[in-house]
Amino acid sequence: MWDSEGKKYLDLYGGHAVISIGHSHPHYIEKITNQLSDIGFYSNSIQNPLQTELAEKLGEISGYTDYQLFLCNSGAEANENAIKLASFVTGKKKFISYKKGFHGRTSAAVALTDNPKIIAPVNETENAIILPFNDIDATEAVLKTEKIAAIIVEGIQGIGGIHIPDEEFLVELSKLTRKYEALLILDEIQSGYGRSGRFFAHQYFDVQPDIISMAKGMGNGFPIGGILIKPEIKPWPGMLGTTFGGNHLACAAGIAVLDVIQKEKLVQNAEMVGNYLMKELAAFSSEYEVRGKGLMIGIEFKYPIGDFRKKLLYENGIFTGVSGQNIIRLLPPLSLNFAQADDFLAAFKKVFIEISASLAKH
Ligand SMILES: Cc1ncc(COP(=O)(O)O)c(C=O)c1O
Repeated sequence: MWDSEGKKYLDLYGGHAVISIGHSHPHYIEKITNQLSDIGFYSNSIQNPLQTELAEKLGEISGYTDYQLFLCNSGAEANENAIKLASFVTGKKKFISYKKGFHGRTSAAVALTDNPKIIAPVNETENAIILPFNDIDATEAVLKTEKIAAIIVEGIQGIGGIHIPDEEFLVELSKLTRKYEALLILDEIQSGYGRSGRFFAHQYFDVQPDIISMAKGMGNGFPIGGILIKPEIKPWPGMLGTTFGGNHLACAAGIAVLDVIQKEKLVQNAEMVGNYLMKELAAFSSEYEVRGKGLMIGIEFKYPIGDFRKKLLYENGIFTGVSGQNIIRLLPPLSLNFAQADDFLAAFKKVFIEISASLAKH
């Protein structure tokens, strides 16, 4: 990216994990431009063949070929629909989510988000039960005593600071939800669409969710979200609905993103470059902890990282994200190459030495 004075930046934040295929990708521009001159929008009362094309491509690339796709406009909306759908099909109204989880700011999604500051009184509900992350015993205890419609969990916790669910925890959740006739919703809004080095982060493990929610990387900045729904769940007319969701422009953006992910092998690239970054960062110092998968990386320091990030940005032209006070969060476009990773590593090491020296003085 370049600023108004022509200064060059390396964007390792990707507009909060949204820029998946890179800014201004020519194929993306061409697809959306052509679509706009054809037709930009028409209501969902008329069939839109682009939705079928997107669903088929997504099924093929993600491996969920037999899942159904419902399209909407954002992450919160995707989770809201996933929660509503789970409640419809199970006839139950209570949900389990986890500490440090984030699922969006709308009513049901925010009630299941572990942040009281963003839950307005109108969103408070006894239907939301937030349990310790990775705690299978606490989960089963609640499943035994309450009528739970579904469990919602992030593929990798993003806003909470890049925490990966234990393999055993996710696999057990998948078994327990079947045992207690609840559904498993995987929130892959941040961790999905190739970011983790798999199409969905949960695909590192042997788990098969009932519903998968997606958004951020799906449109490379064009607002689009969606849920993948297992084939056993049968919709009825009007069960879910939306005016703007799955419109022609959004589908053109979504198809362009999948074209590029496939053609440029971006999932594989995220795994290779991400692993390289994490290995190099971990080898450089044990003064911080490195966590993540693919190009979803958290670096947790023992001190607040405000000055560290400012030095990276203003003195080295590198933009990074955060989580809380002490964690640098890297969510670059999935097209990040090794040379760019090396530029970041060189700047990171330089800033780390400078900050360490200044801390030692005080
Ligand atoms: C895991 C997760 N779920 C849901 C959301 C909400 O998405 P949106 O901001 O598009 O509503 C976010 C956004 O950061 C997220 O990271």
